[in-house]
Amino acid sequence: MINWTSRSGSLIDPPVLFLKKWPATSAFGPEPVMIFDKKLLRVVPGFREWVSQFRYLYPVEAGESLKAIEKFPSHMTKMLELTRALSPKTMSFVAIGGGSLGDFVGFVASLFKRGVTLYQIPSTWLAAIDSSHGGKTALNVGTAKNQIGTFYGAAKIFIVKPLLLQQPQERVQDGLGEMVKISLIDGGEWTRSFFQVKHASAEVLWKFLPAAIASKYRVIRRDPFETRGDRQILNLGHTLGHLFEVLGPYSHGIAVGQGLFFALEWSYHRGYLTKAFLHSARVFLEEKLSLRPWPAQQKTLGRKDFHQLLLKDKKREKSSSLQFIFLRGMGRPLRKLVTLDELTNEAARQGILKAVNRKVLLH
Ligand SMILES: NC(=O)c1ccc[n+]([C@@H]2O[C@H](COP(=O)([O-])OP(=O)(O)OC[C@H]3O[C@@H](n4cnc5c(N)ncnc54)[C@H](O)[C@@H]3O)[C@@H](O)[C@H]2O)c1
Repeated sequence: MINWTSRSGSLIDPPVLFLKKWPATSAFGPEPVMIFDKKLLRVVPGFREWVSQFRYLYPVEAGESLKAIEKFPSHMTKMLELTRALSPKTMSFVAIGGGSLGDFVGFVASLFKRGVTLYQIPSTWLAAIDSSHGGKTALNVGTAKNQIGTFYGAAKIFIVKPLLLQQPQERVQDGLGEMVKISLIDGGEWTRSFFQVKHASAEVLWKFLPAAIASKYRVIRRDPFETRGDRQILNLGHTLGHLFEVLGPYSHGIAVGQGLFFALEWSYHRGYLTKAFLHSARVFLEEKLSLRPWPAQQKTLGRKDFHQLLLKDKKREKSSSLQFIFLRGMGRPLRKLVTLDELTNEAARQGILKAVNRKVLLH
């Protein structure tokens, strides 16, 4: 029997608490160290007062640079200094921020004194729906994202309504990209009412958040350490989504939305989806959620450049192929090894090759 529990929490079944106000100060054990995105002090009403109640504070600048491996030793030195008086048995790290901060703090918690208790308080929709669950932690190496990492589950995840609902409206679209993705993968009862929503709003995200999170755990449970490959279905919309994210540049969720249009169209073209399904999915994405396909622009990118960008995708199996996630219907993702030539041909067919710009892919 394999134990999925780390020194902190379970990868597959951690408590996820939905709160209408900030957690009590006693929620994180006797010696919590609050590691937070310093932007929250400026933009989130009440956050400064709440976080100031804790003794050990470690504010950071969030974003991809936080995950840069070169900066890791300096963070470790400062954190060891800050926590000198604490015991690894009783201390905890509390990650308060978006996905970049969660990935960073998760990584630190998994290594610090061989592992200390980790709590997550996601502050972006992306982190609340996706990245704070499943225990994947990561650092970037140079321009290559998420190359170093561990699996380390949080002891608890706190989903705090006033923190999430305070985000600007454009972030709602970002969250919806990930929510649609998981709904297409899951196809459970909740997705029926999700697909009935009339327009995108933060309240819609809040309403469907518990179901979307439960869907992600259903996938993780089948393949906690991504050894069987099942967990890869969570990459639906991400192969080209990653590319669009950098080329845009677009935020992650918007780019995933663009990647979903691509994946749906290719699934239809290969005969996996009916025309009716493709049509209703597109109408829902565009008209109800205001998500859009990659916009056609008149910039050119040759096949060779496109290949080069794809080769940098970390999900490629070998230099000539990668795992692509198709859809056969609601809740029916299909993982298939495709060659880069096939993917490039499809991108040409969908007009993507004309549409992307020559930039260096970070992934
Ligand atoms: N571990 C996983 O399973 C997983 C899954 C998906 C993505 N990720 C990672 O997540 C990261 C992207 O996540 P993200 O978009 O949340 O990134 P992020 O942490 O960089 O946050 C994006 C921006 O939002 C700001 N922000 C955070 N909370 C806010 C709030 N409440 N109000 C206003 N602004 C706020 C941040 O300061 C930052 O400028 C990437 O590094 C990606 O690799 C990890």
